[in-house]
Amino acid sequence: MEYEDKDLLDLYAVKDEEHRYTMFDPIRGYLGDLDGKAILDIGCGSGALANELSKSAARVVGVDSSEGWIRRCTNTYDRENLSFIGARADDLGVFADGFFDIVVMNMVMPNIYDSAEVGRIFKEIRRVVRKSGDVVFSDLHPVCIMAGHEGNRRQVFPDGFSYFKDGARFTAIVKVRDDKEIAFSDSHWSLGFYSDVLRENDIRIMKIIESKYPENAPEKFFRYSFPEYIIFCCRAA
Ligand SMILES: C[S@@+](CC[C@H](N)C(=O)[O-])C[C@H]1O[C@@H](n2cnc3c(N)ncnc32)[C@H](O)[C@@H]1O
Repeated sequence: MEYEDKDLLDLYAVKDEEHRYTMFDPIRGYLGDLDGKAILDIGCGSGALANELSKSAARVVGVDSSEGWIRRCTNTYDRENLSFIGARADDLGVFADGFFDIVVMNMVMPNIYDSAEVGRIFKEIRRVVRKSGDVVFSDLHPVCIMAGHEGNRRQVFPDGFSYFKDGARFTAIVKVRDDKEIAFSDSHWSLGFYSDVLRENDIRIMKIIESKYPENAPEKFFRYSFPEYIIFCCRAA
C-alpha cells in the first residue's frame, strides 16, 4: 500500500501513537543499550521508530519502498545521525555486508504477499547485519488475525482462506476515528513459515514479545483480549 494519501497519512499518526505502546517501547526495551550502534529500519513508514532509536544510537538509516514516506521522513526529521533512503527490503545493495549492528523491520510483513520475496528479504537482512547482530521484526499476531472482531479492528477473509496458506490475503478493517475506518489488504504468515525462513537464513529467535498495552497507556486504547502484534527478537548466527 502506498501511503501517499493525505487523509491516510494523518490517520496513520493515530496508529503511530498506539504502536508506541504495543511495539516501539517493547522493541526499544529489548534492544537495550544502543550506544555506538548502527541501525537499519526497513519499511520505516512515518519514521517514528527510526527517530526514537536515533536518540540513543550512533546512526540510524530508514529505508522504505514508498517515495512518499521517504519524502515525508526527510522533510520531518532533522537529526545528523538519521537518514532516509528509498529502497526495497529485498534489494539492500546500497549497504555493505555486515554494515549494521541491528536491523528492525516493524509491520512490513503484512505488506508482502510472495514467499519467495520473504526469502529474499531475510537473505538481505542476514547479509547487511553483522554476525551476532540483532534482527527484530513484527507482524500481526496470528491469534489476532483469527480472532475475527474485537475492539476497533475486524478481519474479513476471502473464500478458501486458511491459517496454513502462507501469504494468503485478507482484509483488516481498522477504526481509526469514530467516523473513519481504513481497510488494509494484508497478508498472513504462519509461525511455522517464520521458523523455516529464519532457520534457512541463519537467524535465531531469542525472544517473542506478544503485544499488550501497559497499565500506564491511555485509556482510549482498547484493551484487547488477544495480542494484536507479535515481535520476533532474533540474533544473526
Ligand atoms: C504498516 S507500515 C509500517 C511502517 C513503520 N515500520 C511503522 O512501524 O510504523 C509498512 C511500511 O512498509 C513499507 N513497505 C512495504 N513493502 C516494502 C518493501 N518490499 N520494501 C520496503 N518497504 C516496504 C510500506 O511502504 C510502509 O511504509
